[in-house]
Amino acid sequence: MPTLVIVGAQWGDEGKGKVVDLFAAHADVVARFQGGNNAGHTLVVGNERTVVHLIPAGVLHRQTTCVIGNGVVIDPAVLCSEIDELQKRGYLQDPAQLRIDERAHLILPIHRQLDIAREERLGAHKIGTTGRGIGPCYEDKMARRGLRVVDLFDPEYFRERAARLLEERNVELTQVYGWPPVDLDEVCREYAVYAERLRPHATDTALYLAEQVAAGRRVLFEGAHGTMLDIDHGTYPFVTSSNIVTGAVGTGAGIPPRCVSRVLGISKAYTTRVGGGPFPTELDDETGQKLREVGDEFGATTGRPRRCGWFDAVVVRQAARLSGMSGLALTKLDVLSGLPKLKIAVAYDCQGTRVETVPAGARAFASARPIYEELEGWSEGLGQVRRFEDLPAAARRYVARIEELTSTPVTLISVGAEREETILLRDPFLI
Ligand code: IMP
Repeated sequence: MPTLVIVGAQWGDEGKGKVVDLFAAHADVVARFQGGNNAGHTLVVGNERTVVHLIPAGVLHRQTTCVIGNGVVIDPAVLCSEIDELQKRGYLQDPAQLRIDERAHLILPIHRQLDIAREERLGAHKIGTTGRGIGPCYEDKMARRGLRVVDLFDPEYFRERAARLLEERNVELTQVYGWPPVDLDEVCREYAVYAERLRPHATDTALYLAEQVAAGRRVLFEGAHGTMLDIDHGTYPFVTSSNIVTGAVGTGAGIPPRCVSRVLGISKAYTTRVGGGPFPTELDDETGQKLREVGDEFGATTGRPRRCGWFDAVVVRQAARLSGMSGLALTKLDVLSGLPKLKIAVAYDCQGTRVETVPAGARAFASARPIYEELEGWSEGLGQVRRFEDLPAAARRYVARIEELTSTPVTLISVGAEREETILLRDPFLI
């Protein structure tokens, strides 16, 4: 059962796209199981940069089938434009390469509008969402008034359900936020076009995945965001609206947990976060600025500058425990070159008490002060290094300390955005 789940160990943007793209070359299927176009992967092949938000990062490998599972929320406008863009570049020529689950929920224009209107209203207390309508769409899913991919193919039913949804949500949009209402006819017209575009891709992907797993094919589950943004296990309320931990594969792809054989966590060699919320190791100084510039830390989805800070071993250790990580991929180690000293948070000081887990309370976490351990830095560039033993001794010690603190073996190190700028220590399907 060679299935591999790839999951972010921090607050997202850990470099999952590059790692998924690398392993997709050895996978038969790559499936997404949660989130939506709030995620964004930048794939770099030669001089070509491709940013995908919904389509799994495996799409650049023609022999790999890409699946968008039932747990994903789909903005069909974004999905159709991604399909167009990829087809223009010669990818995705066969519709069977992309399978979209019929049970996945649809983001409607009103979801985007509610997301933006609500954030505006919250002002200083805003979550800092991506404004893509993700939260309101998941709300409607749970409220049992959502619309799903399968509904696109039954226009009468689609209209009836959309009318009911808009009846309720337009009240909020107009009366709470003072925005104009969304028009039912316009939505039906727009979504009828998407129905035709998406029809060749829509199917029961849980069944397809079960067949693939049973046949012993290599299936890679591509997580989006990071564990600290998980709706249950993250730094609530500054989280996204879906589950991100490995367990979400069960519900979001329809795969029983026993079918997950390996879990690879992805973490940067330092920490970043976009949006609001506590971030104990954040650096508001020159070092933070340097990490942002050298690491090119600007969001793939919104272009927002990312907040940067030291590696937080408490966060990654917790993520490793929650997702049962069998290995860790450490990305952007090269960005740390030239810093004379490096710090790792090994615990927090919470009102005078040493705490080794992420506190549940938002206020407790906001007041947690990192307890640091200091390590020697290195000055050499790492971009050309391909073997672990060729890393400077200080870099090897840094990696080894992260392994100890997170109780997880580092199985891959990334030293640049290109596919080949990678040190592979073990085959992730076999770790
Ligand atoms: P939403 O997912 O758009 O509702 O945003 C909720 C929070 O999750 C915000 O802080 C976003 O910045 C953050 N977020 C959502 N997706 C990502 C991601 O892929 N990378 C980093 N942060 C994300």
